Amino acid sequence: MKDVSNGTPADRGNTGLASPLDPAGAEPYYRQIYERFRDAIASGLLKPGDRVPSARALTLELGLARGTIDTAYSLLSAEGYFEGRGQAGTFVTPSLKPGAPIVRVKTSVNLVPAPTSFRPDSILPFQMGLPALDAFPRKTWARIGARCARAMQPSSMVHPPVHGLPELRAQIAAYLRVSRGINCLPAQVFVTSGYRHTLSLIAHALLAKGDGAWVEDPGYPPTRELFRRMGVMPVPLPVDRDGMVVDEGIQRAPNARVAVVTPAHQSPLSVSLSLSRRQALLEWARRKKAWIVEDDYDGEYRYVGRPLPALASLDRDGRVLYAGTFSKVLFPGLRLAYLVVPGSQVERLEQVSRAFTGGSPELTQATVSAFMLEGHFARHIQRMRKLYAERREAAVAGLEMLRPHLCVEDQPGGMHLILRLAGRRSDRELVARMLQAGLYAEALTDWAVKRKPGPALLLGFTNVYSQDMAHALGQRILRLL
Ligand SMILES: Cc1ncc(COP(=O)(O)O)c(C=O)c1O
Repeated sequence: MKDVSNGTPADRGNTGLASPLDPAGAEPYYRQIYERFRDAIASGLLKPGDRVPSARALTLELGLARGTIDTAYSLLSAEGYFEGRGQAGTFVTPSLKPGAPIVRVKTSVNLVPAPTSFRPDSILPFQMGLPALDAFPRKTWARIGARCARAMQPSSMVHPPVHGLPELRAQIAAYLRVSRGINCLPAQVFVTSGYRHTLSLIAHALLAKGDGAWVEDPGYPPTRELFRRMGVMPVPLPVDRDGMVVDEGIQRAPNARVAVVTPAHQSPLSVSLSLSRRQALLEWARRKKAWIVEDDYDGEYRYVGRPLPALASLDRDGRVLYAGTFSKVLFPGLRLAYLVVPGSQVERLEQVSRAFTGGSPELTQATVSAFMLEGHFARHIQRMRKLYAERREAAVAGLEMLRPHLCVEDQPGGMHLILRLAGRRSDRELVARMLQAGLYAEALTDWAVKRKPGPALLLGFTNVYSQDMAHALGQRILRLL
């Protein structure tokens, strides 16, 4: 019997278990790992009784999240391929007859939580979409959280208010008025569990199957995905230096019912929607009685000049629905976001929200509300704005050595860098190699639908602590080029 758990890399290579996974493959990673083991057993490469690598070792070997490997191993155990023996390790089930059909335990693969195939669930260098995790004021958070937990009354242990805790809605309204120039009442604010929840409430309330929706191309993939699943037809529109090309939307799909934009920093190109485009968009929505969804996911983080006012602050006709989130300014694990609707739509959203929402966790909302009320929120944003400007500069300087292969684009803000690839290199291929090497990146190509934005890497810089760290990471990228 073979022990592939600690053989030489060559031994392990023979089983094909440690070779690179396909990040562009249709199957998520856990499924690819699962199939690899199944094939190795079916072909006799792994025999009944063989010890397989520990989940921990394979996690390190493949540079993936531990949860991904655990999911694959659980599935293999559930289906009878693997047998766990505690401290002794994990083995191919000794009673398996090679080649014999395996009686599958009645477990639907669909019941196994699939790690998202779009981004790995571990924290890797350059991970996108994360705030600086080291700089979060954990002590203050813990103190306020503990206080809120102690103050809990039986009344806070029943179902939370569906549209959000009143004190949090009031804090959000006050914050938006001061920081983003949006004049709204707490009743217009709906607390949600994230952007997708926000967007699905909007679609349920205001859109119908077959409606057209202008979306940015390249643009945030979940927007298109959610619309498609709800029967709303995305109309991808190009993005230039001034943001979404509104005129093209007016020509191609004048009767679309909604436009989804990221005006502060276009996601992912980071350009701002110009004033003339903002006006053209508002005018189109007014004339057509269409809706505009403003996805203001990181509008606070502009490092040159002041943050731009939100598009919603220019809306005089009640056409803009404002989607904000705590994911970037606090942390994404919180799962708290909000939607601000025009006064005329409050009742409609209340009805839809009652039908599709059970409310968000009360204790979390109470903690965020107190965090805001006591001034920590505004202070944290100010500190992060300064820190991100420094980290961005350090990352750009540290990655300078990648020229001329990769050149950092100049952007006024945001939480990621765009590194343009010289020549005709494939960004997807480089991203695949980086992921294999334990470095995170996304390929700009994957964010586009019809346009060819040119090959580029998207790299999160908020957790790059210094120029030295960026330089060391840059060396690793250079080796992969
Ligand atoms: C473009 C864009 N919109 C919205 C969000 C917020 O998502 P959520 O509130 O679900 O965390 C993100 C987060 O990554 C984003 O990149």
